[in-house]
Amino acid sequence: MNKSLLITGGAGFIGSNFVHYWLNKYPEDTITVLDALTYAGNLANLESAQSNPNFNFVKGNICDQELVENLLIEKTINTIVHFAAESHVDRSITGPDAFIKTNIIGTYTLLKAAKKIWIDNPKSEGKSPFEHRFHHVSTDEVYGTLNADDPAFTENTAYAPNSPYSASKASSDHLVRAYHHTYGLNVTTSNCSNNYGPFHFPEKLIPLVIINILNNKALPIYGDGKQIRDWLYVEDHAYGIDLVLKKGKAGETYNIGGNNEWANIDIVKTICGMVDQAFKENKELAIQFPKALSAISDNSESLISYVKDRPGHDRRYAIDATKSQKEIGYKPVESFDSGIKKTINWYLNNTQWWLSILDGSYQDWVKQQYKY
Ligand code: NAD
Ligand code: DAU
Repeated sequence: MNKSLLITGGAGFIGSNFVHYWLNKYPEDTITVLDALTYAGNLANLESAQSNPNFNFVKGNICDQELVENLLIEKTINTIVHFAAESHVDRSITGPDAFIKTNIIGTYTLLKAAKKIWIDNPKSEGKSPFEHRFHHVSTDEVYGTLNADDPAFTENTAYAPNSPYSASKASSDHLVRAYHHTYGLNVTTSNCSNNYGPFHFPEKLIPLVIINILNNKALPIYGDGKQIRDWLYVEDHAYGIDLVLKKGKAGETYNIGGNNEWANIDIVKTICGMVDQAFKENKELAIQFPKALSAISDNSESLISYVKDRPGHDRRYAIDATKSQKEIGYKPVESFDSGIKKTINWYLNNTQWWLSILDGSYQDWVKQQYKY
């Protein structure tokens, strides 16, 4: 059966990469993106999908139950992949309200709409309930923090969220679980580690560092820089979700990770070295980015600046993806070396994308382009 997918948050970083992955791999399927286009949503991320007749974009909020119900009916949606969220930990510390609204109330609203249309009111050819899947995209941050020698998070690790962001995601995970156990909604959840790749919003560590090197700006390292994250190329996350949709069991959760732990300071130094090297290999870059230290010396590391730590900063995340490997055949494909090179090249080749975010003009540009 062909899928008709509702992708919430499909104009964000991971959602848009998932849309490209899916349209490319399953050209017969139909995709409807529902996205509120917050500061993190960007229609430019979906530019190449706009001409695909199987792609629709709807600007709207996941907290609008009537809109969601109408979309489920009008587009005969049988699969929801729920990415929409407020996703930046730092913003959750300074302004948690939006996180509670979108991540908790928004997820709850989607669950209510899905239950109503798919279970209470099935409109399928005599099938009751309508054959469906609600996939919830979550994070490893719900498990809290690890010490250096602790084993990695498994699906059985107790939840211990430490930031308003992770607490709101944990809350949404529990609601998703409850809608399965209480109402029989066909749900799956994936908890993933830190993603990196194209279309990553420049408030997050990796894109921030690449862009700041090119602009000769400080590279802020929180605290001692020895916090550890498990980095995964974003396309491998899309692949993991694909496997969960195909082979995952209703009511189950699946960890998705990169098996690729890095201390922040090491990853930043690695990126500095790689950008310096790219400038050595391609002299055009010095003309394109004349402000970059890489243009005059290979000394981007001197931009590193230790700053005040993030309050409640989790020390280490690490994902044990054994269950996903054994039960659904998940294994990341991209090596970190190739993934980070691809990512750096993407930022070198897509300056218009990030420049327009930095100067705020992309909202106007998108309005002109697509008249939304
Ligand atoms: P992002 O911030 O780049 O994108 C979020 C998208 O959701 C944006 O397009 C935004 O406009 C949209 N959105 C926000 N509020 C909305 C609302 N109320 N209604 C409709 N749309 C709304 O986020 P991301 O990094 O792509 O993360 C996507 C999902 O993956 C999130 O659920 C996040 O918790 C999860 N996740 C992210 C990572 C990571 O490393 N970035 C890792 C694991 C899990
Ligand atoms: O683990 C999955 C999570 O990864 C997702 O659920 C979140 O949505 C996503 O934003 C990401 O959270 P992090 O807080 O780990 O990502 P961020 O890029 O903000 O930070 C990565 C690490 O780098 C973290 O230890 C904080 C540190 N950092 C970050 C920034 C922006 C710095 O040292 N300096 C910085 O300027």
